[in-house]
Amino acid sequence: MRAVMCHELGGPDKLRLQEVASPAVGPGQVRLSVHAAAFNFLDTLIIRGQYQDRPELPFVPGAEAAGRIMEVGEGVSHLKPGQAAIALCGTGAFAEEVVADAQRVIPIPDSLPMPLAASIATAYGTSFYALREQASLQVGETLLVLGAAGGVGLAAVELGKLMGARVIAAAGSDEKLAAARKAGAVATVNYRSEDLRSKVKQITDGKGVDVVYDPVGAELAEPSVRSLAWGGRYLVVGFAGGAIPALPLNLLLLKGASAIGVFWGAWVQRDPAGAAAGFRQLLAWIAEGKLRPVIRESYPLEQFEKGFLSLQNRKAVGKVVLTMTDPGQE
Ligand SMILES: NC(=O)c1ccc[n+]([C@@H]2O[C@H](COP(=O)([O-])OP(=O)(O)OC[C@H]3O[C@@H](n4cnc5c(N)ncnc54)[C@H](OP(=O)(O)O)[C@@H]3O)[C@@H](O)[C@H]2O)c1
Repeated sequence: MRAVMCHELGGPDKLRLQEVASPAVGPGQVRLSVHAAAFNFLDTLIIRGQYQDRPELPFVPGAEAAGRIMEVGEGVSHLKPGQAAIALCGTGAFAEEVVADAQRVIPIPDSLPMPLAASIATAYGTSFYALREQASLQVGETLLVLGAAGGVGLAAVELGKLMGARVIAAAGSDEKLAAARKAGAVATVNYRSEDLRSKVKQITDGKGVDVVYDPVGAELAEPSVRSLAWGGRYLVVGFAGGAIPALPLNLLLLKGASAIGVFWGAWVQRDPAGAAAGFRQLLAWIAEGKLRPVIRESYPLEQFEKGFLSLQNRKAVGKVVLTMTDPGQE
């Protein structure tokens, strides 16, 4: 089988597409033939050795895949060969086959196109967990989403709207803001050309926002917290902007506000039943047409470098996927 191999830490130009032996399936594991795999920001970090997990070299990057189960290991009874499923594998997805822990393999309906299936778990799972479980977002509240056209950001815009919030999208280009409006945002801030805090103040008639969803951090964190209304919640989702910000805690005191950490992967491990129920809800919303994830960028496996560059160069709008089989054959 072919796999994107990382032999040496660095940029995507250091990766090689190679013919390698199929990975062996151990007890409690499952082998999938991968039909599609989605990019996540962590892939751009892990190949550089800049992510919290540092797999031993050589390794195959790619944290989530969709495909069909080929083989189940000893002790796996709830999954069977032939089933369509997604695998939350951490690494290994950018290949024609992947082996994953059965606990992190979730069956999906046959009707779900594979590129879409590969793209929803992390993006929508994280945003669902953040908005519903961590922020208890209420109907009629105002939600500010930073990085609003990124993978998790665009999902937060769509889910925020579905949950009945008034969504303000903030992003770094007008093209990205147009995508966020399409996904349900009613107002926008281009934080490269506009002052975030004063624009949010103007949009909310000085009241501020109830919830901030922040996957960017860096210099946007403090003006976002300053944009909170009384009793507001600031969701710490990620640090795509690079720097991990420090915040003056008096801001939380003055606003009766909270800063809440969002670690979706840990939630999936600590509360598998809750996470599975959340995922079923997301699949139901997709089946009912209430959520409409759109894949704007898709590359065949051999063009993997383009996917990495799209995220790394801040060009991606929504999710970027690699396809290992002809999508027309799904
Ligand atoms: N907490 C969790 O459980 C969890 C789960 C998944 C992801 N995350 C984190 O969420 C963040 C976003 O992940 P993602 O997969 O959605 O990534 P993505 O699709 O690449 O989106 C990242 C967004 O961040 C903005 N950004 C600002 N500065 C950037 C920079 N220097 N380089 C790249 N992007 C920059 C970009 O929007 P603009 O150009 O509009 O600013 C971009 O759309 C990452 O930090 C990731 O680790 C956290």
